[in-house]
Amino acid sequence: NDEPVTAEIHADKPGPVYDKRIFTQFAEHLGNGIYGGLWVGKNSKIPNTNGFRNDVVSALRELSVPVIRWPGGCFADEYHWREGIGPQNKRPVKVNTHWGGVTEPNTVGTHEYFELLRQVGAEAYISGNVGDGSPREMAEWVEYMTAPAGTLADERAKNGHKKPWKVPYFGIGNELWGCGGNMRPEYAADVTRRYATFVKAPAGTHILKVASGANVDDYNWTETMMKVAAPVLDGLSLHYYTLPDGGWPPKADPIHFDETGWADALHQTWRMDELITKHSAIMDKYDPKKRVFLAVDEWGAWYAQDPGTHPGFLRQQNTLRDAMIAAINLDIFAKHADRVKMTAIAQMVNVLQAMILTDGSKMVLTPTYYVFDMYKPWQDATVLPIDIDTPIYVKGKYTVPAVSGSAVKGKDGKIHIGLSNADPEQANTVTVSLDGVAASGVTGRILTAPAITSHNTFANPDAVKPAAFSGAQVKDGKLTVTLPAKSVVVLELQ
Ligand code: AHR
Repeated sequence: NDEPVTAEIHADKPGPVYDKRIFTQFAEHLGNGIYGGLWVGKNSKIPNTNGFRNDVVSALRELSVPVIRWPGGCFADEYHWREGIGPQNKRPVKVNTHWGGVTEPNTVGTHEYFELLRQVGAEAYISGNVGDGSPREMAEWVEYMTAPAGTLADERAKNGHKKPWKVPYFGIGNELWGCGGNMRPEYAADVTRRYATFVKAPAGTHILKVASGANVDDYNWTETMMKVAAPVLDGLSLHYYTLPDGGWPPKADPIHFDETGWADALHQTWRMDELITKHSAIMDKYDPKKRVFLAVDEWGAWYAQDPGTHPGFLRQQNTLRDAMIAAINLDIFAKHADRVKMTAIAQMVNVLQAMILTDGSKMVLTPTYYVFDMYKPWQDATVLPIDIDTPIYVKGKYTVPAVSGSAVKGKDGKIHIGLSNADPEQANTVTVSLDGVAASGVTGRILTAPAITSHNTFANPDAVKPAAFSGAQVKDGKLTVTLPAKSVVVLELQ
């Protein structure tokens, strides 16, 4: 593009905190999301600590994953926590009815989940079973995990953990409109009130309760939940996946796509902005003080799964397109950081838009992983509003803002700016006015690759990897950045 793109950062009007919980990741008992991807067992030849593979855990630690949502998803609404405690070899083996019909050994249960959290350095976000569980079962699970004393605390101690765990976030079911019970919103709202009543934090602690929210643009769901259940809630969820190639069911190929497939996916991703705007407006009506946060606790690209992989395992490769999808979403969340306090990408390892792919002892980091790495300074930073006068990139019927971005003042006191160029052919030069910012220099990192379909494989793990970026300069209170085609850039002002 020959015309420079102008942008303005309003450092003098700092916005809300970009909550670190926006970087939450979702790990479901689905395919190799848990078994194989995270858990290999203590006796595995794959180096592990208490059963969790060291390579994956250390890559996750590097990302400072704040929270891990578990055990589902749809799996959560059929999960019975008692089946996942006690000696592993005595636990019942069940059928995972949602995901591939494979057996679920219950080897990873509550104790193992908290061990994973300990190793990664993350906090708990448990999805309770509203679908086919009772309020009593849910209440007892919470007591088992958090009570300092009593019969359930004794049982926990007998099973190896004397000290209560912290459960800062608890989901009152998952997708109650679908796999969580096919409920109507009126019924779901009442059920949520009932179940939430019995999720009790021990004295001096807090459990924030997140209700199962809308599917995509089901605004009536949000309206009803807020009207009926807001008083018992701290958060309300929203699930929205990027589904190119005609929407549900997922059919786009993860790696074989042309420019139309690229533009389609990015166009669908931008819908997140509209969805959050509209759901937030409804929440504002009932909760103008924004006490109840919006938790977009499932987002990401959902394609047809990789050929030859087990049906129902939702295993998909991850390309530069996914990196762009991640960056756009993270920028959109900055715009709505007053209401959006938590989001969770689906999912962490081997499932959907994963950070990490594994196969036996092999592991590879995806382009999405690297975007999360580059955006780390956004965690708990202060959002600085940014206006970008972007051109629109058009491909066929799909329109996409060519330049996306967000800016924050990090906890390190520095200003960090993310800018990406969705145009797969043309560079875009952005001139950013930095009123009220004293900057004398800039450093940065860039993620790009030769092709829109470029991706990392076990044989070629570094095909898409961040590199130092030298295409930005600060001069006379202005930052000028030349964004190569199809690139994600993160800058730090000096
Ligand atoms: O992330 C995969 C599935 O998508 C989850 O289990 C469910 O909540 C959603 O429909």
